[in-house]
Amino acid sequence: MVSSTSPMVVVANRLPFIITKDKDGNLVRKQCAGGLVTAVAPVVVETEGLWVGWSGLHKEDSTGEIPEADPLDQSPTAGLKSKQVIPVCLPKQQFDDYYNGCCNATFWPLFHSMPDRAIFQADKWEAYRQVNEEFAVLTVEAVKKLKESNPDSVPLVWLHDYHLMMAANSIRDMCDNLGLQINMAFFLHIPFPSWDIMRLFPWDDELLQGILGCDSVGFHVEDYCLNFIDCCQRRLGCRVDREQMLVEHNSRTVSVHPLPISIPYERFVSLAMKAPQVVKNHDQEQLLLGVDRLDYTKGLVHRILAFETLLKKHPEHIEHVTFLQVAVPSRTDVKEYQELKEELDQLIGRINGQFSTPNWSPIRYIYGCVSQEELAAFYRDSSVAVVTPLRDGMNLVAKEFVACQTGEPGVLILSPFAGAGSSMHEALLVNPYETNEFADVIHRALTMPKDERELRMKQLRRRERERDVNFWLTSFLKSVKSLSDDSISRGRL
Ligand code: ADP
Ligand code: G6P
Repeated sequence: MVSSTSPMVVVANRLPFIITKDKDGNLVRKQCAGGLVTAVAPVVVETEGLWVGWSGLHKEDSTGEIPEADPLDQSPTAGLKSKQVIPVCLPKQQFDDYYNGCCNATFWPLFHSMPDRAIFQADKWEAYRQVNEEFAVLTVEAVKKLKESNPDSVPLVWLHDYHLMMAANSIRDMCDNLGLQINMAFFLHIPFPSWDIMRLFPWDDELLQGILGCDSVGFHVEDYCLNFIDCCQRRLGCRVDREQMLVEHNSRTVSVHPLPISIPYERFVSLAMKAPQVVKNHDQEQLLLGVDRLDYTKGLVHRILAFETLLKKHPEHIEHVTFLQVAVPSRTDVKEYQELKEELDQLIGRINGQFSTPNWSPIRYIYGCVSQEELAAFYRDSSVAVVTPLRDGMNLVAKEFVACQTGEPGVLILSPFAGAGSSMHEALLVNPYETNEFADVIHRALTMPKDERELRMKQLRRRERERDVNFWLTSFLKSVKSLSDDSISRGRL
C-alpha cells in the first residue's frame, strides 16, 4: 500500500539544481527554473525520498560529488540533502544526442503540436533509448538503497516527463529479477498530443509501450488523458475504458489520471508579503508582466506584437504602462532557441526605438533567472500578467501570479492553449494568434474597474489555495494507492 510515507524515488532528466563551480573552484548548487522542479522538489524534500537525475555535468568533468545546499539557500530544494541525490553522469556526446537531439528537437515540438519544428532521426532515438536504460539502472540502485534502510517497504518509483518515456519496462524487468517489489508511476509535464500528431513519430508504438510499462500514468488535464488512451487503442489495439480511464496491455491494466499540477501556494503568498517594492517610474505607472523560459511555445513574439498594437491603438497608455518581460535562458545550444533570442532582441529594440520618450521605455526586458523573492515582487506589483503560450502543458506562472496578488488586485490574461486555461475561468482568455483582439484584451485588463478585478482575483485565489501542490501530490498518491488496493492492476477491464 502506498501512503505519503512510502519511500519515493523521483526520476527526472534534471536534478532540481545544477552543479557549477564558484569563483574559488568549489562546487555549488544553482537553482533551475521550470514547472517540474517548482512542483516536485518540495515533495521529495517532504517525503525524504531520493532523486535520480542529471546534475548539469558530464562524465568528462564530474567526480560524482554532490555539494550540500548553501546555509543561506532559501529555495525549495534547500532541504534536499546530498545523500538523497543520485546523479546521472554520461559522456557529453551521448547526452547531447539524447537531450538536444531527441528530447528537445523531437518530443518537445511534437508534443506541443508543432510538428513542423520536429526532427526525426534514428540515431538520436537510439541514444534516447540507451540513456533511458542508464537511468533505469541507477533507478534500480536507488530502489535497493531504499530497501536496505526499510526492507518491508514497497518503494514508489515516479518517472517524470518526456525525457524518460522508455525507462519503465527495464526498471520493471530488473526489479522482477531481483525480487524487488515496487509501484511505478509516470507523470507528463507537457501536453499529450492527439493521435494525428503522435502517429508522425516513426517509433510511436515503442514509445506508447514504454509508457505503459508503468502502473499509473498521469497528465495535467482530461484532454491529454483521452489523447493517450486514443493512441493506445488506435496504434497498439489495446482494450480501453474511457470512462474509467483504463488501458489494458500485455495482460496488465494501466490506470490513467488527470492530475492538474500546481504550486506551493502559501510559500508564494508569504514571499509576496515580504518582498520589497518594485521600482517604478512614477506612482501611477501600470506594469504589464510576462515571465517565461525563453521558448518558442510561450508565444513571446505574439505577445510583444500585441503590446505594440496596443500602443498604436491606445496611445493614452504611452508613458503610463510598461511591459516587463522576464525571460530565463533555456536550451541555448538549440538553434531554434538562439534564433528566437535574436528575433526578440530585434523586436524589442525596434519597439523601444519607436515609442520611447526621454523618461520612459515601453519594454523592460530581463534576460536571465531571477530569484523567487524578486519574482514574487514582480507578480504582486504588476497590474496585469500576460500568460499567453501558443501551447503549454499547464503553466505555473499563471498560478504564481495569482498567489502573489496580496495587494491591489490585478488581472490575469491567459491563453486557452495552456492547461491552466481549462480551470482558471476568471482570467481574461485570449487567443494569442489574434493580435488585434489581444491588444483589446490588454486594454480591457488595464482599465478594468476595481470591483470586477477584486471579484475575479478572489475566485482565482480561492481555487489555487485549495488546489495547491499538496492537493496535486495527495491526488497522485491516492491514484497509486487505489491501484495497489485493487491488487495490482490485473484483469480490471
Ligand atoms: P515551463 O515548465 O514550461 O518552464 P511553467 O510556467 O509551468 O513553464 O513553469 C516555469 C517555472 O519557472 C515557474 O515556476 C517560474 O517561476 C519559473 N521561472 C520562469 N521564468 C523565470 C525566471 N526568469 N527566473 C526565475 N524563475 C523563472
Ligand atoms: C519544462 C519541462 C521540464 C524541463 C523544463 C526546463 O518544464 O517540462 O522537464 O526541465 O521545462 O527545461 P530544460 O530542458 O532546461 O530542463
